[in-house]
Formats: sequence, C-alpha cells, structure tokens
Amino acid sequence: MPAFTPPPLPSDDKRWKIVNGTMRKNGFARYALIETLHTVQSAFGYLDDDSIRFVARSLRVPLSQAYGVVTFYHYFSLKPPGKHTMTICTGTACYIKGTDKLVAAAEKRLAIPQGQTTADGKISLMTARCVGACGRAPVVLTDGELVGQMTGEQMLEQLERWAVE
Ligand code: FES
Repeated sequence: MPAFTPPPLPSDDKRWKIVNGTMRKNGFARYALIETLHTVQSAFGYLDDDSIRFVARSLRVPLSQAYGVVTFYHYFSLKPPGKHTMTICTGTACYIKGTDKLVAAAEKRLAIPQGQTTADGKISLMTARCVGACGRAPVVLTDGELVGQMTGEQMLEQLERWAVE
C-alpha cells in the first residue's frame, strides 16, 4: 500500500502547525481525533466546516464521525470566535517565562476566562500547548501571527488596539 500523505495545511496560519503537530505526534492515527479537535478548538476558539474536514481527511475518519464528536461534546463550539484572537502559549518553555501571568493579565483586561470571547464579539482569548517556537518564549499568536518575547505591556497594547477598532 502506498504511504499515506496527509493533506496540505489549509493556510499558512501558524495555528495549523499546532494542529498538525498533534496529529503527527500520534502518527496520524484515528484515535487522535478527539485530541486533534481539541487542539483546533483551543487554538482557533471554535471549529468550522473547513477545519473539521481537514482533520477528518488527515486522520482518515469519516466526516460524519468527526461531526458526531464535535456535536456530542459541549466543549466544542461551532460558533465563530471574536473578530480577533489572542492565543497565548502555555507550553513548558513559555510557562516558565511567565505566560501564566500573560493569561491572567489578559483575562483581567478582557474580563473573560481563557477560551471565551468578549461580549462585544471583538476578542477571543485562547491558549495553546507549545506552538513549536520555544526558543522565542514567551510566545503568543495575535490572529495567528507568531510574536516571540512578548511582554505583558505589549500584549495589553495589542488588546487595546483591537478593543477600540
Ligand atoms: S512552549 Fe511555547 S512555543 Fe514551545
């Protein structure tokens, strides 16, 4: 049987690399379905048709099964997140460089817990477990753009800019 070649990433948004990393770590095995959907949810804040299709195709599970999982667990959301997304890496390297404090500061500024979107729909606050740029810790993704050596001040400035748009 020819070796399986996973489909290309849907776009060059860095968050797909995180999703792909979860699947690769599991050898693109079907049992990685829930964990992978979890990664999509935590990186993007929700799952849309494209992301569900991409995961299903990559893991070779029927689309109906992937949708079945997404609709069964309340944790998963099919609703689009805010206009902007701040994804803070909480992997080990970033954590020891203080991203827990970034998460706390963002939660305070936005008055929402991580994983949620502000009531005005402007900003979603997400976390990810290692985005593969540990050498640049602490790392955040602002709308999928990787920013290394992020300070609390810079992050709050970015949130401010988005909030007044
Ligand atoms: S732990 Fe943050 S990039 Fe690896």
